[in-house]
Amino acid sequence: MNLTDYFGIFIANKNKNCYFPGLFSAVTGVRLYCGKKGVVNNMKKLTKTFALFLGIIVLFVSFSVSQSRRDRRDQPEKLLEYAGVKPGMTIGEAGAGSGYFTFFLSRRVGDRGKIYANDIDEDSLQALKNRCRREGVENIETVVGEIADPCFPVSDLEMVTMLYAFHDFTEKEQWLRNVKKYMKDDASLVIFDGQDAHTGLNKEVVSNIAGKTGFELLKHEHLHNGIWVYVLNIRNSLPQ
Ligand SMILES: C[S@@+](CC[C@H](N)C(=O)[O-])C[C@H]1O[C@@H](n2cnc3c(N)ncnc32)[C@H](O)[C@@H]1O
Repeated sequence: MNLTDYFGIFIANKNKNCYFPGLFSAVTGVRLYCGKKGVVNNMKKLTKTFALFLGIIVLFVSFSVSQSRRDRRDQPEKLLEYAGVKPGMTIGEAGAGSGYFTFFLSRRVGDRGKIYANDIDEDSLQALKNRCRREGVENIETVVGEIADPCFPVSDLEMVTMLYAFHDFTEKEQWLRNVKKYMKDDASLVIFDGQDAHTGLNKEVVSNIAGKTGFELLKHEHLHNGIWVYVLNIRNSLPQ
């Protein structure tokens, strides 16, 4: 177990609040153990050791609870089902972050499939790579993209998908124009995101951008817990 990697994931997830109690307990435990606080210098060693282990346990439990809370909210297996992700597929994930959705995609496409996990944030991709190494996952390749170009290394992706990422993209139009060159003609771009003031996304906005960039919005609906899906296909008849 590599603790540095664990902390890397916490930070890259930008979801730190729930780890603070565990982190605080662990740090306090270490300080007690090392006898840096005068008031507790004479505590029995057993108590100090217990404090240290308690902190570490709380930290790990916080991590697990937070993961399952996200699973309950996002229901990633349902998203895979909706998108039609199947064993053997080659898929690009954009804005993968530290890989929350990536590992579900990876398991679904299996050994014969491949996931290209793109992001512009190299630290997040490093955390993703570290997790691949720890868990022995071999069908994920990370891809450092540019703001307006995902830079996938292949041109035959069967699907491009993203979870809670598209609203973050500052160059949406140029990015959409560029992503087409990595996709098969009949591939879909499946965007899972919100539809509210925070994301600035809704049917009209996405349909409008799609129209300007050679896509068409085929499906748009609310799935669960505030996750909306926007399915875009390449409109071959439009001038590119
Ligand atoms: C809210 S996070 C979501 C991360 C991950 N999909 C998840 O659900 O945990 C949005 C991600 O989009 C990435 N991002 C923002 N603009 C991007 C761009 N133009 N190309 C690729 N990734 C981008 C950010 O670096 C960040 O990792």
